[in-house]
Amino acid sequence: MMIYKTKNYTEMSRKAANLISAQVILKPDCVLGLATGSSPIGTYEQLIDGYQKGDLDFSKVTSVNLDEYLGLGPEHDQSYRYFMNTHLFDHINIDKSRTFVPDGLAQDVEGACKEYDALIEQVGGIDLQLLGLGRNGHIGFNEPAEDFARGTHCVDLTASTIDANKRFFASEADVPRQAVTMGIGTIMRAKKIVVVVSGADKAEALRGTICGPITPKLPASILQLHPDVTIVADEAALSQL
Ligand code: F6R
Repeated sequence: MMIYKTKNYTEMSRKAANLISAQVILKPDCVLGLATGSSPIGTYEQLIDGYQKGDLDFSKVTSVNLDEYLGLGPEHDQSYRYFMNTHLFDHINIDKSRTFVPDGLAQDVEGACKEYDALIEQVGGIDLQLLGLGRNGHIGFNEPAEDFARGTHCVDLTASTIDANKRFFASEADVPRQAVTMGIGTIMRAKKIVVVVSGADKAEALRGTICGPITPKLPASILQLHPDVTIVADEAALSQL
């Protein structure tokens, strides 16, 4: 596990964007696993900047996103498809037909989860997976649990996650209670993982991720077993180490 300590969110974002840029330059037809939330927004801004300067070409890139709220369609402004379009895809030359986000409106959720895993295999697996870290140690929407989930599946969001994400909705009652997420197995099969973490409210979860016991009660702790993980975290997030 490689850890980069940065002064603040801006520096964290620049560093993470550099790692993703290197991936896109070295393998223009790579598969990027992408995340939503506050943590990667600055990284996406840097990638857009790199594209606008002519340094990055996303025309051959495929992307697969980690998760989506159940019940929200692509036009809903809090859906993760909408987030990806507005924060990244609409501003770079990626082929939108090769950007994939789990379907929040699938009728057959279980079937759609299986199809999503098959799709990831079909495109050749994930070259680089970008992750944020939940305050409760979740990655994707793999919440603290008794076991590590393997493949893409439907989850009930915990009170902690609903509380953390209510800032994006009109009220807590509007936050969906369920989501579809890639499993821990899917994430762990990515060839390279980059985790962006910022802020003191993540410090405890980050300490457990890096040096706590490996347990599904803190899902990100499994990353200790991955051969190529880079954590890019600011001083506040690393303050408990
Ligand atoms: C988002 C995701 C989540 C977030 C995590 C941190 O696609 O899967 O695991 O990365 O909840 O969220 P932020 O970055 O908003 O603190």
